[in-house]
Amino acid sequence: MRLVLVGPPGAGKGTQAQFIASNLSIPKISTGDIFRANVSGGTELGKLAKEYMDRGDLVPDEVTIAMVRDRLSEDDAQEGFLLDGFPRNVPQAEILKKMLAEFGVALDIVLELVVDEDEVVRRLAGRRTCSQCGRIWHVDFDDKKDDICDACGGSLYQRDDDKEETVRRRLEVYQEQTAPLVSYYAEEELLVGVDAAGPVEEVTRRAMEALAPHAD
Ligand code: AP5
Repeated sequence: MRLVLVGPPGAGKGTQAQFIASNLSIPKISTGDIFRANVSGGTELGKLAKEYMDRGDLVPDEVTIAMVRDRLSEDDAQEGFLLDGFPRNVPQAEILKKMLAEFGVALDIVLELVVDEDEVVRRLAGRRTCSQCGRIWHVDFDDKKDDICDACGGSLYQRDDDKEETVRRRLEVYQEQTAPLVSYYAEEELLVGVDAAGPVEEVTRRAMEALAPHAD
């Protein structure tokens, strides 16, 4: 299956992506994760991306698109993939369509995680990420009293772009640039909305149910 997850910052895309990709045995490709790995690795790409990410703005399309093209050309993405965080605006969506057509394939489905703004702010304020395995936790919802990952024992950190001011900018950027993707994919007849409120396992169950008719 070739699928895209869309939704505002904090909707739970990364959280759901890890479970959905594992259930479907496809790689999860997160542009945010790739940028963050480059930032911690101190690469040129990381230095450039950090400037934009710290402000809550999008990294320029040409940089992001080249990075996604390279990743989608890798062997493990040939039979399917889950894209988390890409495309992020209509021009990226149009280029993705052309890129996949060149590879002789197309998207099967775009899953929109639907959740209100108060809830995403609450989710982002308490998010912690494992520096070792990348697993995502929440201080309240997962009752995390320590800063240790229960999955691998790694230490947890708070993302730089989860500061209140940056979160506000990320939500604005979502409304201006990413929300139009919802109507774009509805017109392409690829969009399926999933209610992303409620416990993580319940959202995963709804997502898998929505994906079932599209699975081989
Ligand atoms: P990116 O990493 O993609 O961030 P985002 O889209 O803002 O989304 P988040 O990762 O913040 O949220 P999420 O929906 O994954 O939520 P999560 O599962 O963590 O991008 C970061 C930056 O990179 C961008 O700002 C941009 O600069 C750049 N970038 C990336 N892609 C780009 C592109 N294509 N083009 C240009 N620039 C790009 O969940 C949040 C919290 O809620 C967690 O603590 C989690 O435990 C908790 N939670 C999740 N689900 C539930 C639930 N059901 N109940 C209770 N808590 C829950």
